[in-house]
Amino acid sequence: MYLTDKLKQLKQENAISMHVPGHKNMTIGSLDQLEWTHDMTEITGLDDLHSPEGVLLKLNAFLSGKHPGYHAQAMVNGTTAGILSAIFAVRGEIGRFVVVGDAHKSVYHGLEIAGTPFVTVAFDELYNMDVGDSAVIITYPSYNGTVDPRMAEIIEHVGSTDGISIIDEAHGAHFGVTGNFPQSALEFGADIVIQSYHKMLPALTGASVAFTREKDVHRSMMKYIDYFETSSPSYLILASIELAHQFYNEFDDELFFSQRETLIKSMEGRGFSIIETDDPAKVTLNMEGLSPYALFDALDRAGIYSEMVTDAGVLWCLPLFHRGDRYPLEALLERLTNLTITQSRRGTKSEDLDFLLGKTAVRSVVPYPPGVPLIHEGERFTEEVIRTIIHKKSYHVKMEGIEDNIECYKVDEDS
Ligand SMILES: Cc1ncc(COP(=O)(O)O)c(C=O)c1O
Repeated sequence: MYLTDKLKQLKQENAISMHVPGHKNMTIGSLDQLEWTHDMTEITGLDDLHSPEGVLLKLNAFLSGKHPGYHAQAMVNGTTAGILSAIFAVRGEIGRFVVVGDAHKSVYHGLEIAGTPFVTVAFDELYNMDVGDSAVIITYPSYNGTVDPRMAEIIEHVGSTDGISIIDEAHGAHFGVTGNFPQSALEFGADIVIQSYHKMLPALTGASVAFTREKDVHRSMMKYIDYFETSSPSYLILASIELAHQFYNEFDDELFFSQRETLIKSMEGRGFSIIETDDPAKVTLNMEGLSPYALFDALDRAGIYSEMVTDAGVLWCLPLFHRGDRYPLEALLERLTNLTITQSRRGTKSEDLDFLLGKTAVRSVVPYPPGVPLIHEGERFTEEVIRTIIHKKSYHVKMEGIEDNIECYKVDEDS
């Protein structure tokens, strides 16, 4: 057995999670209320996710309580299916899409299959743009937890010119949980907001919720969610959304902030430098004299698994500590004390990819995580893109799509 053994091994090692999903190996939240026997299907009494009239309609009504004036739909195929659905839901209403800043690959996948024109712009450019005929797709917050303070203004600007705002809030399902966290775009009146409940809240992987303001947009979203999402939804995931939502409603941040402070202080005492950001549940770690990749590897070896590593540092998604949680904070602090640091062997091998220069990408190249494309299919490889790919590959960052390009053009070269 391959995967099963690997998962068992991680459990045996008492792997410590500083990554998504937010239940942190079932130590946060109350998913222990669920049992394998709850993996049911749409039998009598369990409703129909794509045409809800009973218990799932009630679940959606519960979720829509997150902010007055929104419809909600629980989803089991992640924010990815929500983004695809949102693009299709509004494309008939607008002339083009405007993609703001770095966007997740699902945005580009949706735009490609919808075939609707789009432009990509920086956040600042939006102010001076006429977006009346556009649907504006904004990622809020960023993967590492930063938020643009002008978000409310921008959503207002889009709405006041009759544009449509679609907010990829994959990393912000916990926003607004208390006043000490950033506000959700739901607070700013965005038209469509899609949140991955599984990332920062204690829900099962795949759990997301789509929020829509207008009834017509909601109806259209429901049509396309039905197109893109499995017709056999996992009731375990759906129930986990309900439990995570209840967690959100009842969360008291006092213990979270005190445990967070204990952790940060203790790490600083051990020589870590901690970069805090707008989202208090995200921190980026570094250690002087050590590459972030070596730090990431050292943490892995100690059984502490991080969310992501980039040149900026190691990204951690902190647990939403709460009274009665089972998160192994003591064990974490002990492992950090005994951390064995060695310089990384990564970054030593430099591959020759110059043969890609000027060639047209046959597949988008996407460093994963974070899943933001570096070059899109159909674009030409520039020197800068090639240098970035070589650098990331040398640090063993997963690069989706690169092998297809290498295979395509390397053969050409060799023949
Ligand atoms: C910014 C962003 N948007 C969307 C997604 C897709 O979310 P999901 O994994 O829920 O499909 C991700 C996943 O990492 C993401 O980082």
